[in-house]
Amino acid sequence: MSRTIIVSNRLPTKILRTDDSLTFQPSEGGLATGLGSIYRQEGNVWVGWPGLFVEDASEEEYVCEQLRQDSMVPVFLTEAEIRDFYEGFSNSTLWPTFHYFTQYATYEQAHWDAYVAVNEKFCRAVLELAGPEDTIWVHDYQLLLLPAMLRRERPEATIGFFLHIPFPSYELIRVLPWRTELLEGMLGADLLGFHTFGYMRHFLSAVAQLLGLSAQNGQIETGSRTVLVDAFPMGIDYDRYVQAAASDTAMQHEATYREALRDVRVILSIDRLDYSKGIAQRLRAFELLLQRYPEWREQVSLIMVVVPSRDQVAQYASLKEEIDELVGRINSQYRTISWTPIHYFYRSFPLEELASLYRLAEVALVTPMRDGMNLVAKEFVASKADQKGVLILSERAGAARELSDALIINPTDTGELAEAMHDALVMPEDEQQLRMGAMQALVRQYNVFAWTKLFMGRLAYSKMKQHTLDTETLKPVVVEQLLTEFHAAPSRLLLLDYDGTLAPFHPNPQRAQPDQELLLLLRALTDNPQNRVVIISGRDRTTLQAWLGHLPVDFIAEHGVWLRAAGEEWQLFQTLNNDWQRELRPILELYVARTAGSFIEDKEYSLVWHYRRADAELGAVRARDLLNHLTFMTANTELQVMEGNKVIEIKTAGIHKGTAAARWLATYQPAFTLALGDDRTDEDTFRAMPPEAYTIKVGTAARSLARYHVASTTDVRKLLRGLL
Ligand code: UDP
Ligand code: G6P
Repeated sequence: MSRTIIVSNRLPTKILRTDDSLTFQPSEGGLATGLGSIYRQEGNVWVGWPGLFVEDASEEEYVCEQLRQDSMVPVFLTEAEIRDFYEGFSNSTLWPTFHYFTQYATYEQAHWDAYVAVNEKFCRAVLELAGPEDTIWVHDYQLLLLPAMLRRERPEATIGFFLHIPFPSYELIRVLPWRTELLEGMLGADLLGFHTFGYMRHFLSAVAQLLGLSAQNGQIETGSRTVLVDAFPMGIDYDRYVQAAASDTAMQHEATYREALRDVRVILSIDRLDYSKGIAQRLRAFELLLQRYPEWREQVSLIMVVVPSRDQVAQYASLKEEIDELVGRINSQYRTISWTPIHYFYRSFPLEELASLYRLAEVALVTPMRDGMNLVAKEFVASKADQKGVLILSERAGAARELSDALIINPTDTGELAEAMHDALVMPEDEQQLRMGAMQALVRQYNVFAWTKLFMGRLAYSKMKQHTLDTETLKPVVVEQLLTEFHAAPSRLLLLDYDGTLAPFHPNPQRAQPDQELLLLLRALTDNPQNRVVIISGRDRTTLQAWLGHLPVDFIAEHGVWLRAAGEEWQLFQTLNNDWQRELRPILELYVARTAGSFIEDKEYSLVWHYRRADAELGAVRARDLLNHLTFMTANTELQVMEGNKVIEIKTAGIHKGTAAARWLATYQPAFTLALGDDRTDEDTFRAMPPEAYTIKVGTAARSLARYHVASTTDVRKLLRGLL
């Protein structure tokens, strides 16, 4: 049976040690509350930390059994792991960096080591559980390395990843000493989900800049797979909040609170203790409201719930002190015998009590400095059965992308915030209802079930696409078959592309000359008279001649323009002219002038613009631009404009690697043919091959005419060594 295995650092249940017994209670935080409604379906399981240090084996067994009954599997963490992995790397490095608080970020090697080790621990736990048909869904910043770790062990697994916090600009990511490892870890998934398009854009930009992988339509070709990246704004279990708000318990609580507050109007704020939530700024804004509008004194109170969180992390502990002090100061300054400006609670509340607070409040103040989504905003909206109430929402919460009918504010602007509170308190009821109604429709439709369905649908689609469009990975059984056929064949033709196939790319193409290993390999292959080795490249003939001319190999240079059989003279494929270069070269020069790091390669019958050394994103933009420009300039001519790997090439149409390779096939009629290549231009070779030929794409598996695929030049060399 196929099911979903949800993996997150924290389980939706946390276990507390009280005196002699253990208490099980729901965890706080958007991830746990949001997914809490969906994980029990269809035999799903949730793997994560239960928040408890177990004392002995029997306690461990008891906890496992209790959690198993509620579809959970615990991963136990030690005190040292919690210190270095959880409080350390997760919450003192990643959390501040991803929320644009780099001034709070620490960079400790020991924390990173623990992060790797704990991700491995989670990996082992998941592997023990997951069958080949199961879908694995990894969540959040504590487990960024897990997708790639799982992928290494289970290359065929279906793995989704969702990030519940913002993904920041590349400028912040680049600061992290372990940035490449983190991005590569995430790319182990088949689908990567973010709350907003902005976060997704930042991720794609970081991947382009740091890993050199570009994306098209949210698809990244990693070399071994296509990874889909998309935005999925997370929703809540709407009906659950409607029902909780309508429950007797919620109404009773509301009545009790109302009696105590008499007719004082209520502004509500609910957050975990976190500097990303803007709690101190919000308090200052409330104070400003009381200063600017004295008429609200004794009329309005702020009910502020702060849920204890990560209090062992220094920044959280000092934030707690700051809040305590601010509340104390404001209350002592403004309170009267019958009125308290701020009712401050430092604890968590059960769902029905939260619901009663949502009912009670006329205004919800959700003003984080940064927040991945913020579910409290959506829960408030869902709880307002009569559609009366106003949501004040920070423009830097993910939820602001959807809830445009809220009063959207800049949370650092305390003046704006105070004015928004005033506006909310005087907003006419019909306007409140209009805004709330629109927000309810949205939150109801895009609820957490719709969110899960959308994510799972895209994950299945990403898998399906990989299977239909991608070429098959060259597996050991195929290699065996290839070798058998190779050895049995009296004559063999090996068509080998150079850059990206025999040798890895170098930022300066003239520095990608063959190393000793490659020269020896080619020498050994050509030593066997049954083998005919053809280097089939886009490079100019002079370079190929200089690098490999001393070997008895054949050459197809300049994408089929120049041909040379071993020991013979160079000849042109056909008579050609290159007068057009005079006209088009200035265009390429213009793009060189506009794009630092790019340069022109002159070949006898073609021209190439290289942008591998340019800024990755600028290079891609300019390439698109140049392509359009040249396509227009070469319309109705005999020229063709081609895109290669970080290059744009102009050459004569109709002559390509395929037309040249066909000549070799016709002349030698080999009993065995192997063609290897990595980019667009090698597709012409693959197309020209007979069906029984072994055609192998190097690098990405996506969209190739080749029958098989290998990941890198290292795999190519290994395969060729097998032919000796
Ligand atoms: N919450 C809770 N108990 C409380 C206060 C809040 O369970 O006493 C829940 C709240 O209902 C919401 C979640 O904690 O679902 C907070 O999620 P949000 O996305 O707003 O912020 P996060 O904590 O994930 O940063
Ligand atoms: C946020 C994070 C979650 C985390 C939650 C509570 O919602 O995105 O991954 O579980 O906060 O934080 P905690 O550190 O207590 O797990």
